Amino acid sequence: MELITHSDSDERPVAVVDDNAADCHWIRTALRPLEGCLVSVHRDSRRFLAAVMAGERPRLVLVNYQMPLVDGLEVGATLSSLHPEDPIRWILMTGRITDEIEAQARGLGASDVLEMPLRGEELRRRVRKALTLAAAWGPAGETHAGARLPESDLFDVLARLARLRDDTTGSHVRRMARYSVCIAQQLGCSQSHRDALLLAAPLHDIGKIGVPDRILNKPGALEPDEMALMRRHAAYGAAVLRGAGSATLVMARAIALCHHERFDGGGYPQGLAGEATPLEARIVAVADVFDALTTRRPYKAAWDTEAAVNFIRANSGTQFDPAVVRAFDAALPMILDVKFALGDEPAKEQVDA
Ligand SMILES: [Fe+2]
Repeated sequence: MELITHSDSDERPVAVVDDNAADCHWIRTALRPLEGCLVSVHRDSRRFLAAVMAGERPRLVLVNYQMPLVDGLEVGATLSSLHPEDPIRWILMTGRITDEIEAQARGLGASDVLEMPLRGEELRRRVRKALTLAAAWGPAGETHAGARLPESDLFDVLARLARLRDDTTGSHVRRMARYSVCIAQQLGCSQSHRDALLLAAPLHDIGKIGVPDRILNKPGALEPDEMALMRRHAAYGAAVLRGAGSATLVMARAIALCHHERFDGGGYPQGLAGEATPLEARIVAVADVFDALTTRRPYKAAWDTEAAVNFIRANSGTQFDPAVVRAFDAALPMILDVKFALGDEPAKEQVDA
């Protein structure tokens, strides 16, 4: 038996998430000599994420890169983002390691990246190391007082960065953030809440930084596998925005993760329904779609206001929260004022400014 001395009192399992039964069996067997290391096996990555969302907290997660439905990077990104003050540590396992996969995984918070199959002894060494580091890190509550940028400046920098990567959306984020604030006002949100929303909403698509160019800039419709990669932007955004030092950052993370959820539970990445999706994300979902519809894009003309409003109303209760749609309706005069004031600015206006 190999002792993991710091962990005697920790009975939480090391979770293995892999759709391949034989690999799961091998890993469980290989980890058996680590005393105090309980192993739980999860073949369905989506179900595993649902359990974690419901409060399960493994000590460490070993997740396979290639899996159907939700792949390893998306699982890892979600794990990194769930408890920003003390994230669940995870290791990515892949059959073929490349610089790109390793950089992506590390960027999303992976503790380690393993090229499988590994010898049992090496697997145990890497897992032991990750467990030791996880115990040593503990809650990441440190703050770096002193060298502080004004928060609004920092958020503006991030928003510009997001736009630089995705220049088809241009001033979209500025308009939709203001539309979101108009809706929030109708919903009775406080001034400070609305101020935070104005900073947080423009970052909703920042995870697109992690989506390959060939997909982000593809002129035509996306194939199903390309769509799956595009959908990762929600979990990527949440992983990038993890951190507990700022309420605005916590809000931005929630928006990035949940702005493609649907009120009927048919959205992604978690399939949250109703009020399980944070209010700010339900607001941004409406503002985002309204602006996308009323703006010209390379692949479509701009819809007129009436058609776009009718689309939002027609999807109340399915795609959108009915309470948010009612607030959108009430805020419409204000929203149209904003639209007129901001207009259709050149795509890179903010980047060049
Ligand atoms: Fe998005």
